[in-house]
Amino acid sequence: MLIQKFLFVFYISSLFWRENVCADNRKFPPDFKFGIATASYQIEGGWDADGKGENIWDHLTHQTNLVKDHSTGDITCDSYHKSKEDLALLKDLGVDFYRFSLSWARILPTGYIDGQINEAGIRYYEDILSELEKHGIEAMVTLYHWDLPQKLQDDFGGVLNDTFIDVFANYAQLAFELFGSRVKYWVTFNEPFIICQQGYENGNKAPAITKAPGIDLYTCAHVVLKAHAKVYHIYDTFYRKTQKGKIGLVLNTDWFEPASGDPKDLEASERQLQFQFGWFAHPIVYGNYPQVMIDRIGERSIREGFKTSRLPKFTNSEIEEIKGTFDFIGLNHYTTTLTRWKEDEAIGKPESLKDISVEVFKNPFWEGSASSWLKVVPWGIRRISKWIKDTYKNPELIITENGYSDVGGIFDDSRRINYYREYLSNVLEAIYDDGVNITAYTAWSFMDNFEWLEGYTEKFGLFSVNFTDPARPRTPKSSVNYFKNVTKTKCVVEQCL
Ligand code: NOJ
Repeated sequence: MLIQKFLFVFYISSLFWRENVCADNRKFPPDFKFGIATASYQIEGGWDADGKGENIWDHLTHQTNLVKDHSTGDITCDSYHKSKEDLALLKDLGVDFYRFSLSWARILPTGYIDGQINEAGIRYYEDILSELEKHGIEAMVTLYHWDLPQKLQDDFGGVLNDTFIDVFANYAQLAFELFGSRVKYWVTFNEPFIICQQGYENGNKAPAITKAPGIDLYTCAHVVLKAHAKVYHIYDTFYRKTQKGKIGLVLNTDWFEPASGDPKDLEASERQLQFQFGWFAHPIVYGNYPQVMIDRIGERSIREGFKTSRLPKFTNSEIEEIKGTFDFIGLNHYTTTLTRWKEDEAIGKPESLKDISVEVFKNPFWEGSASSWLKVVPWGIRRISKWIKDTYKNPELIITENGYSDVGGIFDDSRRINYYREYLSNVLEAIYDDGVNITAYTAWSFMDNFEWLEGYTEKFGLFSVNFTDPARPRTPKSSVNYFKNVTKTKCVVEQCL
């Protein structure tokens, strides 16, 4: 027992030391791209401006007390009225592309194509795209970053119902039609794991439905995957040739580091990755869910008294339809978590965490941030990238989000600079030493914004926003200069080789 404890402490400290390595002084490849990201509900404000419809986040922030500081995204950064100014800042930052999302209810207030189409909403995004074009910045557009039109939630339960698939496809097709000639990268869904696990299981995201744990989240994912595939095929068949863009899905995951070299802990880490990243990556690469999910959920469901698995089954034609539906995989990655094997949970009320049954925890030595979940573990981005390469046939991988949070009012954000330097350094190693096909990197986030249920208590921006001033002035933090230098030199240290 004593020796085990000693080994554990030794192992944990070795992880700590591994962080303090020197930053890499090689340059990113000449065609490697840098971008920065935002999302509509988090920055736009103008929640009911010029005909925009209500969405599930408007609804949640207005009708519940779930947001920590009782704030809303009603105005937030007011980017709806300040986009010209914002895009000038982007130009100055020197990014190759800007990742932003469309507010579905701003374009289609009810969510339906045969409802009213909101011209003002369309104009808003057209102006952004023109301005980007003027500045020579490419657009990466996310169709769904969590702000579902409320009417679709009310009418048929949103992402839990197959009706969603066609309704989403109509909206996506309209977006391709209207904006596609100026969009280089399309993302169908941002972080379906969060949409389903938090929106329909633990209540940490809108619509915060917690009625059927262990069931609804799997239904949600099933619908999302079918909707994603449908939209991929629409783009592929009707738009790719003329619009010449790429389309993919953005998945989020920590790196899950085994807590020891014990094969059981390795198995725990792999299982955790499969239940999170593989849940979506496996279907789009190979056509179906990971076998470990099919087996575990199937077996537990039967023992719980269900007639069939709580994990829905794809038909053969759905498998064919879903397989291969990506030009790139987007990775949102921020941090690492340790995993330890544990005994399977007793059979009882279903819950997705019981299906996984892995113990997860953080190394107490890891540096923290303003977000309890976000510990600074730079080498994790290299390991997860390598794992994705090895597990999913070396796909084109775009880091679609990576960043660090502060509590606000911090302009000299040297910790954020360290974070970016160390994480980017590990991205370089993933590319050059592990042969991972990473083609672009996106920092989260352009400016401080509404951090979902955390409200304005966690700030991820390179630019700070004064939320108490009606003009919402933006002020650069020190990381702006650092990032500018990275985009200009493609080098993460003072001087590259
Ligand atoms: C992931 C989400 O896509 C984004 O909306 C969120 O603000 C960041 N992570 C930070 O939590």
